[in-house]
Amino acid sequence: MSMRKALAVALVASAVATIASVQLYRAGIIGSGPALRDADVGSGTAQVGGPFTLTDPQGRTVSDSDFRGRLMLVYFGFTHCPDVCPTDLSAIGEAVRELGPAADGIAPIFITLDPQRDTPAVMGDYVQLIDPRVIGLTGSPDATDAAAKAYRVFYRRVERPDAPDDYSVDHSAYTYLMDRGGKFLTVFRHGTEPDAIVAGIKPHL
Ligand code: NI
Repeated sequence: MSMRKALAVALVASAVATIASVQLYRAGIIGSGPALRDADVGSGTAQVGGPFTLTDPQGRTVSDSDFRGRLMLVYFGFTHCPDVCPTDLSAIGEAVRELGPAADGIAPIFITLDPQRDTPAVMGDYVQLIDPRVIGLTGSPDATDAAAKAYRVFYRRVERPDAPDDYSVDHSAYTYLMDRGGKFLTVFRHGTEPDAIVAGIKPHL
């Protein structure tokens, strides 16, 4: 390869990498610190997941160990989310329904990143709209933050200058599939269709 051609190739590669990282940043995938990146996901060795102790809609304490023996399908978000969470959680609900009786082998879990507004009662009402089998979990800010960190979720509170009493939460939007021992299997990216989620779960059931 000539020097000029090599340089051209390098420049294009660099531009592509820059564009890709900007897009990932916009998608909220690259945060500060150890947020999960697409590159980690493909390797199959991502260090994702860990213990959590949270509260279910009935006010009961729930921890990750309560789900041993079932696959966990874990999503982080918040009930005020206008678009991203409803899209992904609807897909999770639809996937659960498509699985039929086999869905007994999985625990679909929605963990809030906005515990201030997402009380157990709010989470309970919200998951009813998705699918009654979805388990909505909240907790103290420290407890939900610890869960988010374990799953390498990027999120941050965003103030709204136009509405000082309101705020939003930027967040990464992976749906995590964990095995029966709580270990990471794979993720489904934002916008994954229910059929693809079902196809991804079935080999592990
Ligand atoms: Ni959201």
